[in-house]
Amino acid sequence: MVKAAGTFELSLNQRPRNQTLTNWLYSELRVAILHGRLKAGVRLPASREFARRHGLSRGTVVRVFERLQDEGYLSPRVGQGTWVNAQVVTEASARKSSVKVPEYIRRSVAAYRKPRPFIGWIKLNNGAPFGMRDPALSEFPTQLWGRLAAKRARAFRWWLREADDGRGYQPLRAAIAQYLGSSRGVRCTADQVLMVSGVQQALDLLGRLLLAPGDRVWMEDPGYFGASMAFQRAGAQIIAVPVDEHGLSVSAGMQLCPKARGVFLTPAHQYPLGMTMPLGRRMEVLEWAARTGAFVIEDDYDSEYRFCGPSIPAMQGIDRNGSVIFIGTFTKLLFPSLRLGYVVLPSALVDTFVSFRQCADLRALSLDQAILCDFIDGGHFGRHLRRMRDLYATRLEALKEGGRRYLNGLLDISEAAAGLYTAALLRNRMSSRQAEAAAAARNIETRALDRFTLQRSDPRGLLLGFAAFDEKAILQALPRLAEALS
Ligand SMILES: Cc1ncc(COP(=O)(O)O)c(C=O)c1O
Repeated sequence: MVKAAGTFELSLNQRPRNQTLTNWLYSELRVAILHGRLKAGVRLPASREFARRHGLSRGTVVRVFERLQDEGYLSPRVGQGTWVNAQVVTEASARKSSVKVPEYIRRSVAAYRKPRPFIGWIKLNNGAPFGMRDPALSEFPTQLWGRLAAKRARAFRWWLREADDGRGYQPLRAAIAQYLGSSRGVRCTADQVLMVSGVQQALDLLGRLLLAPGDRVWMEDPGYFGASMAFQRAGAQIIAVPVDEHGLSVSAGMQLCPKARGVFLTPAHQYPLGMTMPLGRRMEVLEWAARTGAFVIEDDYDSEYRFCGPSIPAMQGIDRNGSVIFIGTFTKLLFPSLRLGYVVLPSALVDTFVSFRQCADLRALSLDQAILCDFIDGGHFGRHLRRMRDLYATRLEALKEGGRRYLNGLLDISEAAAGLYTAALLRNRMSSRQAEAAAAARNIETRALDRFTLQRSDPRGLLLGFAAFDEKAILQALPRLAEALS
C-alpha cells in the first residue's frame, strides 16, 4: 500500500515459478500504477533501498525502473529520485471518464435493427437425437480427406505463389460448374461460379449488393431466418409471403407487394417444411421476376439428398432472363466446419460481386478449396453422396416407421422425402415451444417450427434431424419423444 512519497509501501504478489524476477517486478509495478495503487506523483525509494526492502538485487530493480521510465510510467528527476509519472492514465480514471458511450457506438447500435437471433435453440450438448446440425460425420471418409490434405500441404511452396482473381480456386470452380451442370441442371461456366465461406456469407454479400435500404424482398413464411437476417441488416423490408403445399405462394406475394426487388427461395426442399416446388409454381416465380426485373435467390442447400426419384433440376437452368442467382454449400454435404459454398451469378454481375467480396476479404483462395477440388475430381464426392443418400433414406424410413408405431395421435411425420431433417406436425394440444421443451427435458433435441415463422401463427410442429443417427438410436429415442408429447 502506498502512503505518501516519503513513506512508500507496496505489497508485491508472490512471483509465479515460471516468471523471471525482472519480468515479475516489472509487471507488479506496472499493474500497481495502472490500477492506481501507485498514484501519479508518488516518489519511489532509491533503487538500493527498494532492493533491500523487497529482498532483490539492485541490478534487477535498476533494470525494471529503467524499462518503466522508457515506457513513460516513471520519470527520473535529477537529484530527487524516481516518480510515478503524472501523465499515466490509470484504468480507474479511464473508466470514470468513459461513462458515456461514444457517439459512433451509440449510432451503430441504434441503427442496427436487431434481427431474430441465430441461436436460441435448445441445444443438448451430447449430440442427442434428433439434433439437425450435422450430417452423418462418422461416415465421412476422414482418412482419405487427410491424405488429400497432406498431399496438398506438401506442395505448399507452389501453393504460396498461386494467383487468385477474387473468385476462388479456378480448378475447383470448374469442377463445381461441371457437377452443377450434370447433377442440378444449372447452366453456367466456371467464370460464373464464385467461392464463398458458406451460403450465409453469400446471403450477406447479396443482401448488400442487391438491396438498398427500404427495398422490399419476399421471404418464405416460415422460412430461413439466416436470409431474413442478412437482408434486414442491409436495410431491406421483409415481405412475409405464406407457403402452401407447393411452396411460396406467388399470388399472395403479388397481392402483398407486387414490386418487390426480389425473392429468396428454397424450391428443392422448402426450409423448414420440406415440400418441393413443382414446375408450374417455379414458372410463376420466373414470370413474375422477368416481368418486374426482380432477382430470385435459389438456395439449393441440401437438394442432393432426395430419396424418391431424381432431384428436380434447378430453377436457374430454366430461367431465360438472368433473374436467378443460385447458391449452394458443402457444409451440409460433407462436414460443417468446411466453410465452403458457392454463388452462381449471371455474368454481368460477376465483377461487381467480386469487388464487394474483396471489401471484406481480399483473397478468396484457401487450401481447403484445393483439397475439395481433388475430392471432387477423384470421384470421391459423387461416391460419398450416393452412399449418404442410401444411408439417409434408410434412416428416414426408420424414423417414419417408428413414428407410426410410437407417435400415433401425437406427432405426424411429414411425407417429404428429402434432406437431413424432416418436419412433423403436432396432433396433441401443445404449442411448438412446449413440445420442444418437453422433448428437451427427456434429452431429445428438436426445433420448434414457430422459430422459423415471420408473421404466420405457430404451425405447431417440430423439426427432427435424422441424418446423424443410426436406426437403433432413432428407435430408442422415439418412445422418449412419445412420453414427452403425451
Ligand atoms: C436453408 C439454409 N440455407 C443456408 C444455410 C447455411 O449454410 P452454410 O453453412 O453454407 O452457411 C442453412 C444452414 O442451416 C440452411 O438451413
